[in-house]
Amino acid sequence: MLLLNPGPVTLSERVRRSLLAPDLCHRESEFFDLQDEARARLLAVYGLDPAEWAAVLVTASGTGAVESMVTTLVPQAGRGLVAENGVYGERIARICAQYAIAHERLTGDWMQAIDSAEIAARLDSSQGARFTHVAVVHHETTTGRLNDLRPLGELCRSYGAELLVDAVSSFGAEPVDFADRSLAAAAATANKCLHGVPGVAFVIVRRHALERAASRTHYLDLTRLAGAQDRRDTPFTPAVHAHYALVEALREHAEQGGWLKRHRRYAALAQQVRTGLETLGIAAAVAPAESSVVLRSYRLPARLSYATLHDSLKARGFVIYAGQGDLSKRLFRISTMGEITADDIDRLLGCCGELLR
Ligand SMILES: Cc1ncc(COP(=O)(O)O)c(C=O)c1O
Repeated sequence: MLLLNPGPVTLSERVRRSLLAPDLCHRESEFFDLQDEARARLLAVYGLDPAEWAAVLVTASGTGAVESMVTTLVPQAGRGLVAENGVYGERIARICAQYAIAHERLTGDWMQAIDSAEIAARLDSSQGARFTHVAVVHHETTTGRLNDLRPLGELCRSYGAELLVDAVSSFGAEPVDFADRSLAAAAATANKCLHGVPGVAFVIVRRHALERAASRTHYLDLTRLAGAQDRRDTPFTPAVHAHYALVEALREHAEQGGWLKRHRRYAALAQQVRTGLETLGIAAAVAPAESSVVLRSYRLPARLSYATLHDSLKARGFVIYAGQGDLSKRLFRISTMGEITADDIDRLLGCCGELLR
């Protein structure tokens, strides 16, 4: 079965085999070697300086990493502005609400880009109760839109706010400008563009942001996790096998040419899907210039329900993904993450052609 859903992804044989590595006690030096290698390799994906940045591992799914980032880095007296254009932006706001973090939401049409003029207006109108943080999803997997972080970074710099980024479905395959001084942290996971397995997620955080942090949670306290990991320790029992897979996936990622090569590989596959579906009369929902290369959403053809499309493709060996929320009746999604080849996409398009004939 080929997984064309946005994670977990189809694994390479090499990563799958790494799950059979020897049993390991998480309090022994062998585990800490693994943890050190994962942390160093995560920083190396974007060439980050370990004196300035920490990669902090958390045994959780991507949401756990986002929750850890937001609940640790926004201080008690802080105030967040959440820019939303999909499920995962909305989830950041839900996390803020759950922990009673002072915040405002900037909600927009899920099919549209985030309006930086509106963000500027909100930041401008907040004199007296200044926003300390702006939170945004980089690749909004709901629609496949790649949100442009540049204007948000510029606004954060001019209003003295820090940017918190959910990079769960972009880290490792899309450009992330870590040189932007406003960027305090990015949260991501092993089992999407890095091609590891679910169970371990991480936050790439500026060390100076950690120094000022005060967590609202115990398990997800980024400062505690970072401190322990810096000392070659762990506060809790980590998902050991997911760490094996993450390290192997990161080795493979580096050997294959890093994030830029992965970006190009995904871009070619995404273009192949787009062109092939267009030939069958199925239009992409977001313009290519505004889309990620990781996942694209497509308009469901009038004469085919999602259930029929999904079940028929599954019977032929492909798992695709539904639209989310109100978009579920209109859209379906295809991700090209994981061990997927051009031949696989040709076969997928052939099956779509049969269904639409
Ligand atoms: C952008 C984004 N953020 C957060 C998540 C949540 O990740 P998880 O399901 O691993 O908790 C996802 C999952 O697809 C995502 O795409």
